[in-house]
Amino acid sequence: MTPILEWESLHYTFPGAAAPALCGASLRLDAGQRVALLGRNGAGKSTLLLHANGILRPSAGEVRVAGVPLDYSRRGLIVARRQVGLVFQSPDDQLFSASVAQDISFGPLNLGLSLETTRQRVARAAELCGVTDLLERPTHALSGGQKSRVALAGVLAMEPRVILADEVTAGLDPWMRRQVFAIFRRLVAQGTTVLLATHNLDVARHWADLVAVMEHGRVVFAAPPAQVFADPALYGPLGPAAPWAEDEVTDDAHC
Ligand SMILES: Nc1ncnc2c1ncn2[C@@H]1O[C@H](COP(=O)(O)OP(=O)(O)OP(=O)(O)O)[C@@H](O)[C@H]1O
Ligand SMILES: [Mg+2]
Repeated sequence: MTPILEWESLHYTFPGAAAPALCGASLRLDAGQRVALLGRNGAGKSTLLLHANGILRPSAGEVRVAGVPLDYSRRGLIVARRQVGLVFQSPDDQLFSASVAQDISFGPLNLGLSLETTRQRVARAAELCGVTDLLERPTHALSGGQKSRVALAGVLAMEPRVILADEVTAGLDPWMRRQVFAIFRRLVAQGTTVLLATHNLDVARHWADLVAVMEHGRVVFAAPPAQVFADPALYGPLGPAAPWAEDEVTDDAHC
């Protein structure tokens, strides 16, 4: 079966940066997969995701969506973004319209959908993400977690085949996090692929069916969680897998 999304041997250096952010990163995702993308700060997770729908263009390597190499023309990018939706790590990079409703509408309108269809999709996405009561609010006047939910709603309204969520659950309260995982579950059941970049090893262990780990601009392995967490040599480099010891918390409180 053709993977729904493939990154193959990507290389990328940010303008002016001394070192590459990606150096030979490869990963392939299948339809309906739940993927946790792990890796320490600076490993290249966000950079990899920004390549998936052409926001960044690699200096070498190839991105393929449903087997088709990404076409970086304006039209080609619209086609890619219809299929691959990215929720940015920082919602302030994603939200730019005056109101929440305008922001969630932007993607569907950009796809050329009718006003009526857009209205229905916005209402549904807003309902799912619990932001219906925020629709008329200015985006700049929201809390961090509310912004993340609006950014997710904007991507859901596009109804992509792949959703790449860059640490989207990190700033959410426990109720909302549960709601977001319920949304993910429903999407996956419909065949959507959901990738979550996260530092939460519990998410990787209990939610994902594929765990991919990045180190120094490469995906160093991708395997089912049972395999990853059975082998300390694999997850060890990510940091302590156990909950914090009490003294760590106490030390922190003195900072
Ligand atoms: N806009 C940028 N300009 C220059 N260098 C950047 C930029 N964004 C990221 N980098 C660098 O690229 C590398 C990969 O960063 P990236 O943001 O992809 O890491 P990450 O795995 O997402 O980390 P985190 O867990 O902190 O989100 C890092 O060395 C980082 O310093
Ligand atoms: Mg990141």
